[in-house]
Amino acid sequence: MSQTVKGVIARSKGADVEVVDVVVPDPGPGEAVVKIDACGVCHTDLHYREGGINDEFPFLLGHEAAGVVEAIGAGVTEVAVGDFVILNWRAVCGQCRACLKGKPWYCFDTHNAKQKMTLTDGTELSPALGIGAFIEKTLVAAGQCTKVAQADAGAVGLLGCGVMAGFGAAVNTGNVTRGDSVAVIGCGGVGNAAIAGAQVAGATTIIAVDISDEKLEQAKRFGATHTVNSKAVDPVEAVRELTGGFGADVVIEAVGRPETYEQAFYARDLAGTVVLVGVPTPELEVTLPLIEIFGRGGALKSSWYGDCLPSRDFPMLVELYKQGRFDLDAFVTERIGLGDVEAAFAKMHGGNVLRSVVEL
Ligand code: APR
Ligand code: ZN
Ligand code: ZN
Repeated sequence: MSQTVKGVIARSKGADVEVVDVVVPDPGPGEAVVKIDACGVCHTDLHYREGGINDEFPFLLGHEAAGVVEAIGAGVTEVAVGDFVILNWRAVCGQCRACLKGKPWYCFDTHNAKQKMTLTDGTELSPALGIGAFIEKTLVAAGQCTKVAQADAGAVGLLGCGVMAGFGAAVNTGNVTRGDSVAVIGCGGVGNAAIAGAQVAGATTIIAVDISDEKLEQAKRFGATHTVNSKAVDPVEAVRELTGGFGADVVIEAVGRPETYEQAFYARDLAGTVVLVGVPTPELEVTLPLIEIFGRGGALKSSWYGDCLPSRDFPMLVELYKQGRFDLDAFVTERIGLGDVEAAFAKMHGGNVLRSVVEL
């Protein structure tokens, strides 16, 4: 028996989102239905609705979510009915070349639910990042559910995307460790999570770089020891000054633009690491002197989803949150209803909101 619940869709490119009836099938083999408690509003949802990801409208939006497993299909062993879970968009396969090499966070064959959620007229929906969680209940692959300790769903659901990406960019991709100097360029949800990750990992100098003084003030709450407004001063010079004239051991780019990538490239110490976690649009290009790439050594890395392994990282981060060592509450700017997603998109341009979180 399928069930019909309320969900938020983007019907066509650029059109306002709508709350509509969505038909959710019973879970088939390897699938689970999750009752959503809360789901954060991410830029990626907006990109979907603006046609920036692909043209497979209508989309069922939302993907930074936590909730409770309501039903499981045949053969599901990962989770049980009643488990409190965070949804992830990388259910690793265990069999591709990355998984077999022991690096499942690079899995090249992640999976989603096989069945489709639909509108009441049968139109198939494309769930954002294979999740679709601005909805009372959603259908996912069981591997997309990671069981964690009970905690505030609005806060821990954010681990499902941007916060994990930022934290992991520092800790997993950047390998930030005790005593490191770290600069983070772009202090939105992703950048602030990178700052928090750097702090948890033991970095002693954490430089927040942004073009907004408000964002820089906020970044201190996450662990920034210094702030640089790159509209007012040259951020490369400023980072060098704050690191004994050398540059930071790890620079994390959390904007996704050529100019900020270049700043990251030059703001790091010799043999330092640049981590690109900001997602660029396809037309953007950078030009760098090859001799500088050689001469500065070190590593230029990208971070996909913070190189996370949900089964390893989500429970650990929820534990850090519960212990008061990772302030997930600070990412939640406002709690809203299912009908407020369009308004939340509008606030993203304003710049004061880290995350609006839909509560169900
Ligand atoms: N220099 C420094 N900071 C900048 C610049 C710039 N040129 N341009 C924008 N910023 C700052 C903004 O002021 C804001 O604080 O970058 C931050 C971006 O934050 P958000 O818009 O909240 O985005 P966020 O959710 O953090 O994602 C950042 O990571 O995962 C990707 O797709 C995501 O590309 C996006 C990036
Ligand atoms: Zn795999
Ligand atoms: Zn997201």
